[in-house]
Amino acid sequence: PFMTTRRDFLKQMGTAMAVKAVVLPDDYNQYDLSFKMIVIGDAGVGKSCLTSQASKGIFEESYSATVGFEFLVFNVKLNEKVIKLQIWDTCGQELYRSLISSFYRNSSLAMMVYAINNKESFMHIESWLKEVKLQSNPDIKVFLIGNKSDLEEERQVTLEEAKTFKEEHGIHYFSEASAKNGINAKEVFIEAAKLLYLEHLKYKDVNFQKLGNDKNDVLIPVKVSKKNSNRKKGGCCG
Ligand code: GTP
Ligand code: MG
Repeated sequence: PFMTTRRDFLKQMGTAMAVKAVVLPDDYNQYDLSFKMIVIGDAGVGKSCLTSQASKGIFEESYSATVGFEFLVFNVKLNEKVIKLQIWDTCGQELYRSLISSFYRNSSLAMMVYAINNKESFMHIESWLKEVKLQSNPDIKVFLIGNKSDLEEERQVTLEEAKTFKEEHGIHYFSEASAKNGINAKEVFIEAAKLLYLEHLKYKDVNFQKLGNDKNDVLIPVKVSKKNSNRKKGGCCG
């Protein structure tokens, strides 16, 4: 064991993982940990394109609205652990909303997407967030993604207003991205995997043993050995 403060420990973990993220193919069939997440936002903002760009490296120029939902997988290796994200890509249309409430309940993370060239889709983020608060577990992590960042000349939402929204609503992560040119497409899902993995470590794997008095807050992270066997065969919807 090494001595550190809780804050430094988590900071080091974060940095180490940023260096060691390796994206794996979506059909890679082994994993150490898996998390469910949901992608939400108005119709046409690019939820499906962003997800399939990250998962499969595919971008569709022609728009075909998602009916109900689609299931995709994003695999990434972080610090020698394979993290599998099970992604529910939902449809933005009101009609199917009731279908997806069980996905909210079972998700560890909600990715809210708007398009930077569509002010209305950004204005609606507040009501998407309400939906998350209403339907999800209280400890759900929430991401905000401004998609279509390649359409700079059509921009209707500034970086500043999105960042302000993030701060004011306690959202865990914000970034702009483009499903079209791929900028930040994989990265936002890597960030999602990192955050969920960190949370997992914080509560499941690492116990902090206190040394000395309260002021110093010196802690030793102690790995709790788990029943190993947590490397499972992957499978759809597992
Ligand atoms: P619903 O399934 O109806 O809720 O829509 P969606 O949010 O899944 O949108 P989808 O991914 O189907 O994309 C809608 C349209 O926007 C398509 O024509 C895409 O080609 C286009 N699009 C998606 N992402 C981008 C992007 O990053 N840049 C540009 N320029 N176009 C994009
Ligand atoms: Mg879609």
